[in-house]
Amino acid sequence: MAGLPDPAVVVLVGASGSGKSRWAQQRYRAQEIVSSDDLRGIVGSGRHDLAASADAFGLLDDILAARARRGLTCVVDTLGLDAERRRGYLALAKSHGLPAVAVVFDVPGALAKERNAQRDRPVPAPALAAQLARASDAAAEIEAEGWDQVVVLRSGLPAELERADAPEPERSADGMDFVLQVSRFPWGEDPAGWLKGVALAADEAGFAGIALMDHLIQIPQVDRAWAPIPEPWVTLGMLAGLDTDLRLGTLVSPVTFRPAGITAKTVATLDAISGGRAFLGIGAGWWEREHAAFGLPFPSTKERLDGLESAIETIRALWSPGTKAYSGERVSLPETTSYPRPVSEVAIIVGGGGEQRTLRIAARIADGCNVSSDEKTLDRKIAVLHRHCEHVGRDPAEVSVTVLDVPVVGRDRDEVWARVERLRGGTAAAKFAQTHHAGTHAEQRERYATLAAKGVRTVFLAPAHVQTPADVLALAPMLA
Ligand code: UTP
Ligand code: MG
Repeated sequence: MAGLPDPAVVVLVGASGSGKSRWAQQRYRAQEIVSSDDLRGIVGSGRHDLAASADAFGLLDDILAARARRGLTCVVDTLGLDAERRRGYLALAKSHGLPAVAVVFDVPGALAKERNAQRDRPVPAPALAAQLARASDAAAEIEAEGWDQVVVLRSGLPAELERADAPEPERSADGMDFVLQVSRFPWGEDPAGWLKGVALAADEAGFAGIALMDHLIQIPQVDRAWAPIPEPWVTLGMLAGLDTDLRLGTLVSPVTFRPAGITAKTVATLDAISGGRAFLGIGAGWWEREHAAFGLPFPSTKERLDGLESAIETIRALWSPGTKAYSGERVSLPETTSYPRPVSEVAIIVGGGGEQRTLRIAARIADGCNVSSDEKTLDRKIAVLHRHCEHVGRDPAEVSVTVLDVPVVGRDRDEVWARVERLRGGTAAAKFAQTHHAGTHAEQRERYATLAAKGVRTVFLAPAHVQTPADVLALAPMLA
């Protein structure tokens, strides 16, 4: 919800006909709005059956409490003019740690009266006059009540009512690019056709590249162990043959899978045949099971991190011009004869959760690092990276910060929440939505602008719902 916290308890305040219900319906899903009028219609003879008010408000309190307990947004659509009730909603929000927002509709009396007159069962004129008077006092009262945010909509003109909550002028994520991280391969009977469709859709949607996971068994975070997970460099070789400008690489290749020299050869080949579009994501490896299953050693963390350091050194030695012997910090080679050389400056991006060694390796010898897109974690990692850069005398501008982002996205709030519900498994919806940054395309763009301002240069994007080329194309509005 642009400009408003989400999840939140949102309490509407305003006279009858001031536009509360309409405002809520345009911004929230029907299930997120609890309306005393609707509940009167359910337990009483109709929306205006005042004799059913006590029952309706009793239900409203129960529904609000149940949603707040689950951390789910709830919009309270009542007059909101009863200070005691209103403060009850505020206290409930606070007791569940949810932001409390009051939205006050302080519209000109003449407009409310005009709308009221056009309704099936208008509110009697004296009652409306009393509501209008209370509504204009309410703004000041509410300021003193301790809400996390108070929005006052003073204009009566529909257009201005809209504008009062319009998204802030769009901030820009210019200079940042998006790489589609493909981690699921629901390719059915036609793997090559599916891959081609996804890659062409990514190109058309505005992605700068495609990254593939490098795992021997599909990881439990993504899918079941028997779901297909192809060898990435072979797959990228096929994608290199399509007519696109996509950059192609892994995120990330464990150094434990292949001797470093072989990785140097593989990536140089991909770079040569793709006209300089290869990149290499590389890490220490973390999943013991896939190593055991494929007969690969899985040494200690320290040895794997040592391995990461020597691998980068070996790869760089084999990619540099000439064939002369190499003798460096960890690695010595009698010659560095390796053709084809990469045709571009292939970026080496170090991935991994570690801060002390992993980020120090990135600061010392990589072109970039890949970290979580969670803003708090990101702030910390960037600070650590910069400290390492300072320590090793490297300009931080030379080490690009990239993030892996696994959001739940949709065109509108309904689609976003349908996806949350489909994908969340056994995780509570509010928690899943929060950890997956659930939001509409517009909300994701706001978030990416924030990441860009923090210095993020590339977002590796892996929306969990993507199954088909059409799903990839539908992401275009988020990248534009
Ligand atoms: P609402 O039905 O949204 O008002 O608008 P409300 O505040 O929720 O009223 P109560 O408290 O439930 O009685 C009243 C009428 O005004 C129109 C709506 O479509 C509806 O018919 N309206 C509202 C507009 O035409 N433009 C607006 O900006 C707001
Ligand atoms: Mg209403």
